[in-house]
Amino acid sequence: MKILKRFFTLLCLVAVLCSCNAQGNTVSEDGNAVIENIMSRRSIRKYLAKPIDREVLNTIMKCGINAPNAINRQAWEVRVIDNKEAIAKFYTALQQGNPQAQANAIEGSFRGAPVLVIIANDTTFNYSPLDCGIMCENIMLSAWSMGVGSVCLGSPVGYIKNSPQAMQMLGFSENYEPLICIGLGYPDETPAAKPRDTSKVKFID
Ligand SMILES: Cc1cc2nc3c(=O)[nH]c(=O)nc-3n(C[C@H](O)[C@H](O)[C@H](O)COP(=O)(O)O)c2cc1C
Repeated sequence: MKILKRFFTLLCLVAVLCSCNAQGNTVSEDGNAVIENIMSRRSIRKYLAKPIDREVLNTIMKCGINAPNAINRQAWEVRVIDNKEAIAKFYTALQQGNPQAQANAIEGSFRGAPVLVIIANDTTFNYSPLDCGIMCENIMLSAWSMGVGSVCLGSPVGYIKNSPQAMQMLGFSENYEPLICIGLGYPDETPAAKPRDTSKVKFID
């Protein structure tokens, strides 16, 4: 009887462990981990100091550039800044290019993320912003599947464009301009889901 009880407890433990994904979120009832990953992602604006391994970052970036994109032109360029010294240098460059802005407004626009991703689009190619947007989602969802939180950031873009020093640091090719940034890091908050308006979707019969 005792052995049976132990076996049952072990079975329950295995079942619970199997129903958890990388973030510790339970997988959706039908066991679809992709849907669970999409539905449990939130924009994260508070991060742990824990760095993200380069191996993890490389996997995330590989997922990013595997996004569908128009005629496979890959009309994007990505820069990743993942160490404190380089981030401090980047913030200084942004401050130099935006002397009118408060330092905390510039830094605050990156939401304290320990890893900054800056994505530039090819301004000569119409589909490029769309391609970059799809790549963003691949980056954020693959990150989340490995427990890494993210936030898409439009507000730092103006500061970057205004700063020749920051632009030089990023070294984008000719005709490429910063379009969007992403902050990445291990989450130090668990925000509630923001509501979505389901009436935006209509089936046409
Ligand atoms: C193009 C774009 C730009 C965004 N810019 C910012 C930003 O500058 N700062 C910020 O905190 N969040 C930014 N966000 C995140 C949105 O506020 C967030 O995705 C939205 O409120 C929905 O919340 P959720 O991501 O948790 O579902 C941006 C998102 C997108 C897609």
